[in-house]
Amino acid sequence: MERIEIETKSVEETLTLGKQLGERLFAGAVVTLAGDLGAGKTHFAKGVAAGLGVTRTVNSPTFTIVKEYEGRLPLYHLDVYRLNEEESEELGLEEYFEGSGVSLVEWAERVEDQLPREYLAIDIRRSGETARHFTLTPRGERYLDLSKELETL
Ligand SMILES: Nc1ncnc2c1ncn2[C@@H]1O[C@H](COP(=O)(O)OP(=O)(O)OP(=O)(O)O)[C@@H](O)[C@H]1O
Ligand SMILES: [Mg+2]
Repeated sequence: MERIEIETKSVEETLTLGKQLGERLFAGAVVTLAGDLGAGKTHFAKGVAAGLGVTRTVNSPTFTIVKEYEGRLPLYHLDVYRLNEEESEELGLEEYFEGSGVSLVEWAERVEDQLPREYLAIDIRRSGETARHFTLTPRGERYLDLSKELETL
């Protein structure tokens, strides 16, 4: 599987990278976000939201599992950390993944069986005080094209 590596050197660059992704996402897009505490998942998500034209403030969804935002396309920000298998089936994740919005999923490894066939996996790592390393693993052609486009920006 092809991987695309992108480095940001500041919070602003992370926001911009997220925004550039958000501007290019399509209805039914699914993006998973992984990374340790303080890696920058929430900042990146804020950028994605901005790129989708969301005007409300995006925060970590932790205590709500799903937060919905209105934009050019609806944004579903999911944090499935606290879901067990039964609960995640009840919640009906496919309805989000197959819907007309964009799903941004944190802790997606917990619901791996329920992820669609195609999605974009993003892993964020701290590579310095204000530097972050993004590894994009696209599953499917559309996400590959998208990732390559982001790489060249
Ligand atoms: N290049 C960068 N990109 C993103 N955040 C950065 C960068 N450099 C420094 N930071 C800092 O790293 C922290 C990232 O916090 P953020 O809440 O986005 O992380 P998170 O991955 O969502 O963490 P958590 O798992 O606790 O929710 C912030 O304090 C931010 O200021
Ligand atoms: Mg966060």
